Amino acid sequence: MKQMFAKEVDAGLSAEPKKLPSKYFYDAKGDELFVEIMNAPEYYLTDCEMQIFKQRTDDLIRLLAFDQPFELIELGAGDGTKTIHLLKALHASHSFRYCPIDISQHALDELKAFVEGEIENIEVFPIQGDYFAALDKLEKNNTPRVMLFLGSNLGNMSDADARNFLKRLSAAMQQDDRLLLGVDLKKNPDIILPAYDDSAGVTSEFNLNLLRRINRELGANFDLEAFEHAPLYDPVKGEARSYLVSLKAQEVYIEAIDRIVHFDEGEKIHTETSKKYDIESVKRITAEYGLEYIEQIQDERCYFSDVILRKTQTP
Ligand code: AVJ
Repeated sequence: MKQMFAKEVDAGLSAEPKKLPSKYFYDAKGDELFVEIMNAPEYYLTDCEMQIFKQRTDDLIRLLAFDQPFELIELGAGDGTKTIHLLKALHASHSFRYCPIDISQHALDELKAFVEGEIENIEVFPIQGDYFAALDKLEKNNTPRVMLFLGSNLGNMSDADARNFLKRLSAAMQQDDRLLLGVDLKKNPDIILPAYDDSAGVTSEFNLNLLRRINRELGANFDLEAFEHAPLYDPVKGEARSYLVSLKAQEVYIEAIDRIVHFDEGEKIHTETSKKYDIESVKRITAEYGLEYIEQIQDERCYFSDVILRKTQTP
């Protein structure tokens, strides 16, 4: 784990331009900061999808649920605050078991306790692991499946990784299984950019925390005062990108890889991309992996979309 981290940091800081993988944001402190981001007034994504799950539950059930017993599999389940609304309504009318997948066993334990506390007699079968390992753990049975992948988490992946992910996900589905894919939509940059640059500075803390983590886990000496959070939004690509900018020419030592890394004044480390989508490109890409568009549900402001797809054929 730590060796992997060291290797990826080494590779990222050797690249031109420098970069670091966003998946390493989420240590204990990073998890906390991300919850704070979701509560920040500028971060509309969570509010939008929450609204869909609260107000459009009947539509979600109509589009997703099976009449026979099925499995509801959620990838990157987190704390379940959105899903709970769907689970409650589903439990009253349908027979299913809920299989949340998450990398964090701690998050899964809390989620299971939360869901079982809210809904009597619900069947919860958590699966710990990264997405691919967890998908492999799913038994090959004939039970219909509904997959949930919320929060525009797809948007953090490179195009190649997103395609590979959709391919593997589709492979874990059988004909007629459903996928709900949450995607953030392209819109006015004046709405998108502040979501990654909140006025309370939480996103800045979140971004800088990556350096704090490298200091702690890899024995580095990044001066957190000498780097600054710098987000931008590219409306042509539909990419919100976060950078850490070096405020001066400086040298940083990283013990775990025994390397001194030089930064010019103004040099940037690219730490995250959050892709924004239009529905046509979502349809096009998913169709390539045997996932057929059925319908989409947007929030009232039309900022965010939960796209409902159906697996067409098992290859
Ligand atoms: C968890 C990927 C949906 O990209 O909007 C939020 C992560 N990073 N603010 C996003 C994030 C900075 C978030 N996702």
